[in-house]
Amino acid sequence: MYNLPMSAIEYQRLIMNDRVRMDAFAKALRQTVTPGCTVIDVGSGTGFLAFLARKLGAKRCILIEREEEFLELSRAIARRNSIRGCEFLHAHSAEIRGLPKADLVVSETLGNFAYEENILETLTDARRFLKKGGVMIPQRIEQYAAPLVTQGLWREIASWDHANHDLDWSEARRKSMNNMYVKIVRPRDLLPGTGAAKRWDDADLTGGKLRSIRTGELQWHIGSPVTIYGFALWWVCTLLPGIVLSTSPKEPPTHWQQIFLPVEQPLRLAKGETLRLGLRSDSRPAVKINVSWTAEQISASGKTMGSQSMDMRKG
Ligand SMILES: C[S@@+](CC[C@H](N)C(=O)[O-])C[C@H]1O[C@@H](n2cnc3c(N)ncnc32)[C@H](O)[C@@H]1O
Repeated sequence: MYNLPMSAIEYQRLIMNDRVRMDAFAKALRQTVTPGCTVIDVGSGTGFLAFLARKLGAKRCILIEREEEFLELSRAIARRNSIRGCEFLHAHSAEIRGLPKADLVVSETLGNFAYEENILETLTDARRFLKKGGVMIPQRIEQYAAPLVTQGLWREIASWDHANHDLDWSEARRKSMNNMYVKIVRPRDLLPGTGAAKRWDDADLTGGKLRSIRTGELQWHIGSPVTIYGFALWWVCTLLPGIVLSTSPKEPPTHWQQIFLPVEQPLRLAKGETLRLGLRSDSRPAVKINVSWTAEQISASGKTMGSQSMDMRKG
């Protein structure tokens, strides 16, 4: 996925200044941390969640972080703030054995697309850290998609069309279009009407087997002629019942922004036609993340008039 290269500390600075993220996690911790409880923070980064849990009365906090640089930083932050009662483990959480069972497992390993940091796999595995009746934060991730009807983002990605200098850039253009982008999508970029946003995935992080390959099928019935330039994706994450973090273009902005999937060529749809979208994401650890989709234009009589598809592996 396209993202600006960013130093590790710059990324931490960015997320620590994301007020929407911070407030939602702080609220969830205030609601669940009880005096004397044990908390495991999976993917602890600077240690924010664990340190807050300690301040709220947790007796013991175990920080698990795969990046040594961050673990050392969190150790230094704990020393600087005289925070005791924390244990610092440098490991991938899946490798850890023999921990005491926790009352609360908390993890902020949400990606822009939601699944690219392997949150599904990490949290399925991390359930073994919980005591019977213990609480997991977050609890659910829902994924949404909507067609985009404005040109701006599409023109930016398709700008190979103007690179020119007497060279044919179509090979490079194809690669660019076969990708997903972290971008700001505004509500006015979406297909108008109340039915634009549709849910294509729903992952319950608290129980049951979570598949790493997620698929969804959506369709939009077109009420008036429209040109589609791609799709926007976003997620809604329930940290605890009633405490929800959302990257919807209609909600307050977060550092996660939205995902933009460009179509190779704009799709011109007439009244009465249907736009179908099939989405697939694969976050098996060996793959890390791959997203692919197929969009089909269906006539009022049910005939497929054209289709386009994207697979990140080609991008
Ligand atoms: C988005 S940061 C969040 C940091 C911190 N928890 C916070 O909320 O500010 C996620 C961190 O989790 C770490 N991480 C992701 N998956 C992990 C895993 N399975 N085991 C250990 N660390 C992990 C990453 O290296 C990264 O530092």
